Amino acid sequence: MVIAVDGPAASGKGTIARAIAAHFQLPHMDTGALYRAAALNLWRWGGDPNSEFEAVRACEDIGSNLEDPELRSEPVSRIASKISAYPAVREALLERQKAFAAQPGGAVLDGRDIGTVIAPDATAKLFVTATEEVRAQRRVRELLARGMPAHFDEVLCDLKARDARDTNRDSAPLAQAPGSIVLDTSNLSVEEAVAQAIALVRARL
Ligand code: C5P
Repeated sequence: MVIAVDGPAASGKGTIARAIAAHFQLPHMDTGALYRAAALNLWRWGGDPNSEFEAVRACEDIGSNLEDPELRSEPVSRIASKISAYPAVREALLERQKAFAAQPGGAVLDGRDIGTVIAPDATAKLFVTATEEVRAQRRVRELLARGMPAHFDEVLCDLKARDARDTNRDSAPLAQAPGSIVLDTSNLSVEEAVAQAIALVRARL
């Protein structure tokens, strides 16, 4: 049983994926954290995000970064968005994700290309989305809760830029996978979104 959860930034896919994993007692991988961990390496070294070569080197030894609080900071988010467009970066992080999805007991993964590239044969594929305004508002609340500065207009602008980069890149762009079910969380509470997601997955079992 493999469950793929894809969607744009701040759509609620991470929360939903974690809840599905807890409900069905499956291991969960937040694949965005891999790209963020590589971005954090690059940022700490003072590496150049415009260099695909340096970005690939930053994909080594990401394990110790995966729980780092800086993973969600703005500079790291910006670098992650940039380097995730490099085919060689995606290739460097591919095997780890495929192996996680291939565990005998099953798994839940969330990201941008789970249903299209990492686990095209997933048991259930969800595409979680919400309007840009709702997603920007969520991101503002999340940043403020972490004690980080956040202004709605800037966050919205950044989010649009990231959506555009994720959707328009050549390598594994953000897209609704064939056979995926769209869950729009714009007008749903977290509890409602999670309940709907679990019901949708259950219907595919
Ligand atoms: O999901 P999250 O926002 O944490 O992802 C961080 C960055 O990694 C995103 O900007 C996205 O471009 C990239 N990403 C990706 N493919 C994935 C997961 C994340 O390109 N499967």
